[in-house]
Amino acid sequence: MRPPLRLVVLISGGGSNLQALMDACAQGLPAEVVAVISNEAGAFGLERARAAGIPAEVLEHSAFSDRAAYDRALMERIDRHRPGLVALAGFMRILTPAFVAHYQGRLLNIHPSLLPRYRGLHTHARVLAAGDTVHGASVHFVTEELDGGPLILQVRVPVRADDDAETLAARVLTEEHRIYPQVVRWFAERRLSLETEGVRLDGGLLAEPVVWRPGAPRA
Ligand code: GAR
Repeated sequence: MRPPLRLVVLISGGGSNLQALMDACAQGLPAEVVAVISNEAGAFGLERARAAGIPAEVLEHSAFSDRAAYDRALMERIDRHRPGLVALAGFMRILTPAFVAHYQGRLLNIHPSLLPRYRGLHTHARVLAAGDTVHGASVHFVTEELDGGPLILQVRVPVRADDDAETLAARVLTEEHRIYPQVVRWFAERRLSLETEGVRLDGGLLAEPVVWRPGAPRA
């Protein structure tokens, strides 16, 4: 048997997606969260990591003069842990091309919208303002284009008439906790890769992302 995939998770906040990944690893996903790194010292996700006995580190961006210097330091921190995969889980920073290139094919992100719709921030409020009836979340490989990398798995979440940005965000987040571990599982099981032609899953190139409905089984 091959050793578990070494996973480094980058966070900036609550870390509920981190928790979902740690829980999935504890329940048989063949990966191990070997480190959690936050750019925010107060991120609650750091507590979650420590509670699970996982090294939790802070690398504050305010200590660096520019984005390139921060990303270089971040790469150095990450690479100490020899990751097979780096997962952005609510890591609210724009990454430099050098960073993205360094982790090409082993850098994932989760975003709270049905990409390519609603890149960037405040996705839930923007969905409500547009009157959309369906919202969701996406997991994708990270490329230089912000929230624009090749899509892997999406989940669709119905928008309810009485939703506000908070209730909608909470419902989407619950679904994020299902799709992120699933994608990490595919990667850990070597069923998923990023090729020059696109995303390969179980031997075939994905013409479109896999789409899940709410409530399907967890990874
Ligand atoms: C999640 O909704 C994640 O999709 C989003 O931040 C939240 C983090 O929650 N990420 C982005 O918006 C990245 N562009 P968490 O800290 O509880 O996992």
